Amino acid sequence: MKIIGTGSALPSLAVTNEMLSEFLDTNNEWISSRTGISQRRIISTESLLELSVYACNKALENAKLNAKDIDFIICSNVVNHYVTPGLGCIIQGKIGAVCPCIDLNSACSGFIYAMDMAASYLDAGKATNILIVCAEEPSKMVDWSSRDTSILFGDGAGAAIVTKGGNLKSMYLATTSAVEPLYYQRELEFNPYNKKEEFKPLVMNGKDVYKMAVNASIQDISKVMQDAHVTQNEISFYLIHQANMRIMDTIRDYLGEKEEKFPKNIQKYGNTCSASIPILLDEMNREGQLKEGALLVLSAFGAGFSSGACVLEW
Ligand code: COA
Repeated sequence: MKIIGTGSALPSLAVTNEMLSEFLDTNNEWISSRTGISQRRIISTESLLELSVYACNKALENAKLNAKDIDFIICSNVVNHYVTPGLGCIIQGKIGAVCPCIDLNSACSGFIYAMDMAASYLDAGKATNILIVCAEEPSKMVDWSSRDTSILFGDGAGAAIVTKGGNLKSMYLATTSAVEPLYYQRELEFNPYNKKEEFKPLVMNGKDVYKMAVNASIQDISKVMQDAHVTQNEISFYLIHQANMRIMDTIRDYLGEKEEKFPKNIQKYGNTCSASIPILLDEMNREGQLKEGALLVLSAFGAGFSSGACVLEW
């Protein structure tokens, strides 16, 4: 499997830490030192669908493909306005593709899970060009009256087009049922045979999530590097899910790696769930940082608790 095009889109509104401190009991010093986040982009005038379509069109342009060349769309999404149909089906119509579409929800690990699914479709000969789009609007899940979670997240969309060939050297996925540390319940319609359920915004035990994220990522990275028979010297970049600067620094310290091998954009966008890695990938691609043949490690983790990593040759 080879990535032949990337695209991304961020909302126009940048919400700084200072802006949050106008209505929350928080401050720039606390947020930036504990998370590395200075600002995040929040959907205000545009929609998640518009951002997703823009990211997909940029990826198509980058891959020099037409929407009709896409024969499968995988959309990774945690929450959007539609419960049904899947967001991927709506995006398909807007970009003019004609192919099957599926939505998957592996929380913040979604891009890696979508890559694994895409690789399996390509290997099985069921598709030639697959569009992966990670479209996320966590600003619609968090409690904006609480400083615990609202400071962490940002909205955005990232897309990648994958095709046959290339060199996906290894892939590893892991999920353990650990719901309590991080979950969000959707408010559903009342049915007359059941009692009305209580609705809660995103619930997170930050300390537990932090520990699980570090442990899962270190374990997954070690596993995929071992499976790919590659050493750290051969790796150009580690693209870690942009959840918290300190999580990434702890992983880097454990590996004893150089700072420049861990690219980051969390300071600008916060945690954009499954869109964080494809957005970062797109920025690096457009800046010409990804040289042909470069070995990349991708590692993501999130609610579930789910995680995944891969070693990929660019
Ligand atoms: N602003 C100011 N103070 C805050 C605050 C905020 N936004 N949030 C919490 N605090 C306070 C707490 O009330 C507490 O005060 P106290 O010592 O007087 O009780 C203090 O800061 C420390 O809080 P704590 O929750 O222990 O901080 P922490 O170091 O664990 O950092 C997180 C909190 C959320 C930043 C951190 O746990 C984290 O990043 N976890 C991972 C979250 C994540 O990545 N989730 C998504 C995974 S995909």
